[in-house]
Amino acid sequence: MQTEIRPIRREDVVSVYEIEKTSFAEPWSIGIFRLYAAWRGVVPLDEERTTYANVAVHQGVVLGYIVWETDRGHRTGRILNIAVREGYRRRGIGRTLIQHAFEAMRRAGLIQVELEARESNTAARGLYSHLGMIEVGRLARYYHNEDAVVYRIEL
Ligand SMILES: CC(C)(COP(=O)(O)OP(=O)(O)OC[C@H]1O[C@@H](n2cnc3c(N)ncnc32)[C@H](O)[C@@H]1OP(=O)(O)O)[C@@H](O)C(=O)NCCC(=O)NCCS
Repeated sequence: MQTEIRPIRREDVVSVYEIEKTSFAEPWSIGIFRLYAAWRGVVPLDEERTTYANVAVHQGVVLGYIVWETDRGHRTGRILNIAVREGYRRRGIGRTLIQHAFEAMRRAGLIQVELEARESNTAARGLYSHLGMIEVGRLARYYHNEDAVVYRIEL
């Protein structure tokens, strides 16, 4: 499905938060998305690290979003959050959001991306494997009651 990928705006926040709440048992607060919108999708953390939030929009409707971090010191990117609206999954939106973020990371001079997924999250793990990410480790009980699987890809 063709979507426009662009930085989050104020008018996207309610839709993004709806997707967040229906996608995760422990959703981020709406205030985080408001902050990204207020900062036009780019929130600096310190001298080396910056975070970004983009949305995928189709005919004016927000269908997904992604939040990622660039760490120029370690030349590493990290996906912090990604979700696609229920009913619009398996149409390539998640893949497009991540590929767009990878491209931005390459342009920023990063050499690799790392991320974690819940062991039980077959959709996320399927997406990361589909994109060529390699399982490089596990973090025991990273999510309170569940292990995380760590993925990495060279850019
Ligand atoms: C994970 C998520 C973002 C994937 O988004 P999506 O738009 O459905 O993914 P895509 O359509 O781009 O999928 C690309 C490929 O990833 C893999 N994949 C995606 N969903 C999958 C699933 N449920 N099971 C197995 N593989 C899957 C497939 O290889 C797929 O290609 P195919 O459809 O041609 O087989 C979506 O399922 C979601 O929002 N889940 C809830 C939030 C979440 O868990 N986020 C990740 C936190 S770590």
